[in-house]
Amino acid sequence: MSDKGKFPHYMLKEIFDQPQGLRDTIAPRVSLESARVCLDEVRISEEELRCLRRINIVASGTSRHAGMAGQYMIQELVNLPVDVDYSSEFEYRNLLIGRGELTMLITQSGETADTSAAQREAKAKGSRTVAISNVIDSTIAREADGVLYTYAGTEISIASTKAFTAQLAVLYLFAVYLGQVRGTLRKDRVRSHLQELLEIPGKVEIVLQSAPACRRLAEIYHTMQDFLFLGRAIHYPVAMDGALKLKEVSYIHAEGYPTGETKHGPNALIDESLPVVIIATCDPEDQAAVLRYEKNLASIKSFKQQSGRVIAVATAGDEQVASLADHTIFVPPASELLSPILEIVPLQLFAYYMAVEKGLDVDRPRNLVKSVTLE
Ligand code: AGP
Repeated sequence: MSDKGKFPHYMLKEIFDQPQGLRDTIAPRVSLESARVCLDEVRISEEELRCLRRINIVASGTSRHAGMAGQYMIQELVNLPVDVDYSSEFEYRNLLIGRGELTMLITQSGETADTSAAQREAKAKGSRTVAISNVIDSTIAREADGVLYTYAGTEISIASTKAFTAQLAVLYLFAVYLGQVRGTLRKDRVRSHLQELLEIPGKVEIVLQSAPACRRLAEIYHTMQDFLFLGRAIHYPVAMDGALKLKEVSYIHAEGYPTGETKHGPNALIDESLPVVIIATCDPEDQAAVLRYEKNLASIKSFKQQSGRVIAVATAGDEQVASLADHTIFVPPASELLSPILEIVPLQLFAYYMAVEKGLDVDRPRNLVKSVTLE
């Protein structure tokens, strides 16, 4: 798994590894005929999970963006309050956590010092801990009560891609598992959630076909100095990670922001020199998503009136967005909670090709390391 094969860089290989990493992460934990998620590795009793009052997710960088998406998944499917914190800020927050609470540490490497420190603090306050890690027997995994491994395969490139989408899949599995254990999801709902999750790797393969279009966007935009990435609800963490990917590998300044917040300040920045990347997909079965979609259309129209240049990620076949945005990358239809796994792929590809256009060291960006083992 750690050989580049036919790919020029590990980052591109790992972006294309994602369907397999998702299948390897999802399949061992799903039983469709019995409509159940099997997560014994959580090693926390169903009784204790039924008594949980809150979940605190703690992570850094891309892993925290996965945690932000996981917050939407768990709150939507389980009606359980979830907080998300930066690992590096956790110790300053004097969080009132303790028994009846679960602290989830999300960490690709399992060695991030800030996340390890947060884990020790949570345990000292009496919280049970579960780690989500991509490295078997990593320090944080070993120190946790339970571990949910992602099986994305070794991730060499400093920019995290396949580990991120595998983290999203594990968080979705965990949310469905909690719903199953706490009775907030009936068996037929569990089955439909699992059925859709099993279809996601194939949908990622379809999104990967947009690589040439993402490369063409990089040829157009690689001289830009600043970008704004926008998303609403669970799509906001996707915008955050799209911005981080671009920053990390191309050294171009990029900010992830909730779409609805642009009118509270960032709108002043938007003109022809500051391109906007907006997640504007829509699950027509989800009324709340349809309302958000209508707001996204209005946002794109207003950015265009300000001479802004808009790159949109939209649902396949959506001619409305395509008629308004300067460029549109399409992803297959998916439910709101699973669409982030599809939406991040064109943003990963865009960031990769921007770095290649600039002739940079894509896999080893300056000033960064793969595992931040110092606080
Ligand atoms: C992600 O692309 C970055 N390389 C970085 O933000 C990373 O996500 C962060 O350092 C956390 O690493 P971890 O998941 O191994 O804890």
